Amino acid sequence: MKFSSIASGLLALGASFASAAEMVKRASLQQVTNFGSNPSGVKMYIYVPNKLATKPAIIVAIHYCSGTASAYYQGTQYAQLAETYGYIVIYPESPYSGTCWDVSSPASLTHNGGGNSNSIANMVTYTINQYGADASKVFVTGTSSGAMMTNVMAATYPEMFAAGSAYAGVAAGCFYTGTVNGWNSTCSQGQSIHTQQEWANTVYNMYPGYTGARPKMLIHHGSADTTIYPQNFNETMKQWAGVFGYTYGQPQQTIANNPASGWTKYVYGPNLVGITTAVTTTAASTTTLATSTKTSTAPATTSSASNGGCTSQRWGQCGGIGWTGCSACVSPYTCQKINDWYSQCL
Ligand SMILES: *[C@@H]1O[C@H](CO)[C@@H](O)[C@H](O)[C@H]1NC(C)=O
Ligand SMILES: *[C@@H]1O[C@H](CO)[C@@H](O)[C@H](O)[C@H]1NC(C)=O
Repeated sequence: MKFSSIASGLLALGASFASAAEMVKRASLQQVTNFGSNPSGVKMYIYVPNKLATKPAIIVAIHYCSGTASAYYQGTQYAQLAETYGYIVIYPESPYSGTCWDVSSPASLTHNGGGNSNSIANMVTYTINQYGADASKVFVTGTSSGAMMTNVMAATYPEMFAAGSAYAGVAAGCFYTGTVNGWNSTCSQGQSIHTQQEWANTVYNMYPGYTGARPKMLIHHGSADTTIYPQNFNETMKQWAGVFGYTYGQPQQTIANNPASGWTKYVYGPNLVGITTAVTTTAASTTTLATSTKTSTAPATTSSASNGGCTSQRWGQCGGIGWTGCSACVSPYTCQKINDWYSQCL
């Protein structure tokens, strides 16, 4: 009698441990509401694969403006690949209408500053504790606004991430407006030009006094991007080149048609690789350094009035304060307002 009640007590204890470790249903996208302090109201979604590794890695996958956790879960392969490799995916979701990320306020651009970056970092800490994840294998990635946040996460929480991979973002701090969820069109249009030292200082200032390791960075950007202008590839490369002590404009290797035809890979060293569709010239490009001449290179294309006669491609910008490009969209897409500064063909 006594023995069996102890046994059932132990069983109950065992069961409660098991359920503590299994907070969500596996192999489907699940919301987590109790991940800890959430100063900026970001929503947390998680994908825990059926075949969870013993000490799983974590990928934080961050959606674009107008996106959601669910859209990014469905539109990328991270969850699918999690079943092969056993890692966990965290999909944060922006709390703002238009679902861009706050990459513009002092709070979000500061380590433990109480902004979106802080909430996302708390999701990572929660997941490490809850699933016994490997704190040395935490990665961050994202597209467009999510790529901007990827750079911000790498700058504000360098101790947390082994690597970051950004698709069509801007340098950390480039979107600064001093307001929450602002839109900096000077930056988006590629007019925020700085030296690599200035950009590196922007990173250092987001976590003053930090001297530890920093995540390796992989930066992707298409050269036909009319929403987040391709100059932002160059500025982002300058930023991380500065942080890692490489010289922007002097990659160790320039590999044409890699990883795919029409793309060029710039390998600065083990900590920084950039991939863009920009055309490579056979000579001369090695001398285009981030010297002071760069700062005066304002974009030549400050075009005239808003152009109703042309059409923007899918995902392209089609309106917003300061926008002077096409205001119509290629069929079947329509121009949808994301916020005062940005309308997009969706
Ligand atoms: C955008 O950033 C630039 C500098 O990088 C700054 O001069 C400008 O005031 C910012 N724009 C807004 C709307 O705050
Ligand atoms: C930006 O970077 C690409 C790739 O390195 C290069 O081809 C292009 O000339 C750079 N643009 C400027 C304005 O420096």
